Amino acid sequence: MSKMCGIIGYVGNKNANEIILKGIKRLEYRGYDSVGVAFVKDGKIIIKKDVGRIDEVHKKLNFLEPESNIGLAHTRWATHGSVTKGNAHPHLDCNEKIAIVHNGIIENYQEIKEFLKKRGHEFKSQTDSEVIAHLIEEFSRRVDFENACKKAFSMLQGSFAVLVINKDEEKIIGIRKDSPLVIGINENESFAASDIYALLPFTRNLIFLHNYDFVVLEKGKVRIENLIEGKVEREVERIDINVEETDKKDFHHYMIKEILEEADVFERALNQDELKVKKFIEEIKKAKKIFLVAAGTSYHACLAGSYLLAKAGIFTRPIIASEFNNFLNAIDEDTLIIAVSQSGETADVLEAIRKAKERKAKIFSIVNVYGSSLTRESDEFLLINAGFEISVAATKTYIAELAIFLLLHSKLTNKKINKEEIKAKILDLLSRSRREHIEKVAELLKDKQHVFLIGRGLEYVTALEAALKIKEISYIHAEAFPGGEIKHGTIALIEKDTPCIVFVGEEKEKILSNTEELKARGGFIIGVSEQNERIFDIWIKVPQDGEASLIYQIIPMQLLAYRLAVLRGFDPDKPRNLAKSVTVL
Ligand code: M6R
Repeated sequence: MSKMCGIIGYVGNKNANEIILKGIKRLEYRGYDSVGVAFVKDGKIIIKKDVGRIDEVHKKLNFLEPESNIGLAHTRWATHGSVTKGNAHPHLDCNEKIAIVHNGIIENYQEIKEFLKKRGHEFKSQTDSEVIAHLIEEFSRRVDFENACKKAFSMLQGSFAVLVINKDEEKIIGIRKDSPLVIGINENESFAASDIYALLPFTRNLIFLHNYDFVVLEKGKVRIENLIEGKVEREVERIDINVEETDKKDFHHYMIKEILEEADVFERALNQDELKVKKFIEEIKKAKKIFLVAAGTSYHACLAGSYLLAKAGIFTRPIIASEFNNFLNAIDEDTLIIAVSQSGETADVLEAIRKAKERKAKIFSIVNVYGSSLTRESDEFLLINAGFEISVAATKTYIAELAIFLLLHSKLTNKKINKEEIKAKILDLLSRSRREHIEKVAELLKDKQHVFLIGRGLEYVTALEAALKIKEISYIHAEAFPGGEIKHGTIALIEKDTPCIVFVGEEKEKILSNTEELKARGGFIIGVSEQNERIFDIWIKVPQDGEASLIYQIIPMQLLAYRLAVLRGFDPDKPRNLAKSVTVL
C-alpha cells in the first residue's frame, strides 16, 4: 500500500504534543484520510491514531496528552488499499519499542515482509511502511538503535522519508530518499518535517536533506551522514518568511485568500534576477529540442508557455510528466527540459527530469517551493515567489507560473509587460462587485451535472484550467475543447440548457461561430469576453489584452469554481480523493 503524506517529529525541552499537533495541521494539505501521533512517556511508546481529519481525530483521542518532549506525527493520503485505523501511521514493531512514520512507497516491502515473517514478526497492517519498524527491530537484536536503523534503511527500495523513535532513547532518527524531509534546529530543540511550512512557526534554521542523508536528532543537536557518500556537511539555511502570510486569517478558506492575493503574486513573480532570466533565454535559444514538463495546473501553465514561445518563434513540446517516458529516445545533450511545479516534489515530474538528466539534457525549472527536490536537482531554476499555497487547488501559483512564461515571451519578443496596468486589472477582477456577479453565475450552475468549455489558442488553455478547477473542487463534470474541435464528436452531448462557457479572445469571429453551433443545439452560453454578444445568455466581462488575457480570463473561473464548491457544500481546500503534493508515481 503506497501513500503520500505529511510527517513531523520533535525532540526538545518544550511540549512536543503541542508542536507536532500544530505542525501536522500545517501538513494536512498533503493528505487527510487518517492521522496519528506517537510519543514516548515513562519508558513507553504511546500511539494515538484513527481515520478522519486531524481536528476530528484529535477531538476524539486528545493528542495533547500525555505530555512528552519527544514525538512523531503523520497525516495520510492512501493511493490504494483501504483507509483504516490499522493502516494509519505511526507503526510499531512487535515489542512496541520502536515507532515509525513514513512518506513514500517501499517498493520491495513484500520481499522484506516475507523475510521478516519467517523470522517470527507479526504484522498488524496491510501497509508497506510497517516493515520498516520490524526491520529495525530485527537488526536491533544484533546492533545498537542507530546502526539497526542504518541497516534497515539500506535495504529499502522506492521512495521514503522516515522518522523513527525508540522508547529507550531521547532521539529521532530519520532518512530521506526521493521524498522530502527538512530539518529544523534551535537551542535545545530539533525538528524534522515534510516541508518548511510545518516548521516555520517554530524555527527559521533549516537544513535541506539530500537523498540517503541519515540524520540523528537530539535536543538542539543534529548529526547527518550520507549512507552512500559517508561524512557530509549540510549547511544550516536561515529562511526569513513571514509566518503571518501563511495563516488563513478571517477567510473561510485558503483558496479564496490565495485567489485574492493574485495581484501581488503576479508582480512578485515578475521580479526576477535579470541574470537568471538571461540564462533561461540563452538556453531556450540554444537548445535544439525543448520539452515543457509538468502535471495538472502546472501542465496547463506549460501549455500556455508553448503557445507563448511559439508566438516568439520557438517550438516547444509541452508534455504531461507521467507521459514523458515515451519520449526518452528523443532526449539528448541538445535537449532543454523546462520543468514547472508549484511544490517541486511531484513524483512524475521528478522522475521525468531524472531520466532526462541521465540522457544529458539540461534541466531548467520554474518552481514555487525553495529547497524542494526540483530546485536541488535542476541546473537552473526560477522561483515564482507566490508564497505558500495551502489550498489543494492551485490558483495563485498558476498566475505566477503564467507570469514567468509571459516574462520569457516578453524577453524573446522585446515586448514590454505593463506590470502596473495588469495588476490594476487583476485587482478589478477580484473586486467585490465582480465577485458578486460570479456568485450569481454559480447559483445558476450549482445543480448542473456537466459543463463544457471552449476557447481557441490561449483561451483553449484557459478552458482546460477552468475545467480542472471546476471538477476538482465542485465535482461537476467539466470538459474543455478547442473551439474548432467540439463539432468533431462531443457536440453530440449538447442538449437544451447544457452550460457552455465560451472564452472569447483574438480569434473572436471563429469562436463566436463555434458558439453558434452550441447554441443551435440548446447550449446555455456563458461568455467570458471583453464585449457582450447577442448569443450570450450570461456575460462575464474581462479585459482583452493579448497575452495578458491568459490571466484575466482564468480569475473569474477560479472564483466560480470556489463558489460552486461552497454552494454544493464541499470544502474547496481539501477536495475528496486529492492531496496537494502528489509524491507517488
Ligand atoms: O506541485 P505541482 O505544481 O507539481 O502539482 C501539479 C499538480 O498535482 C497540481 O497542479 C494539481 O493538478 C492541482 N490540484 C491543481 O489544482
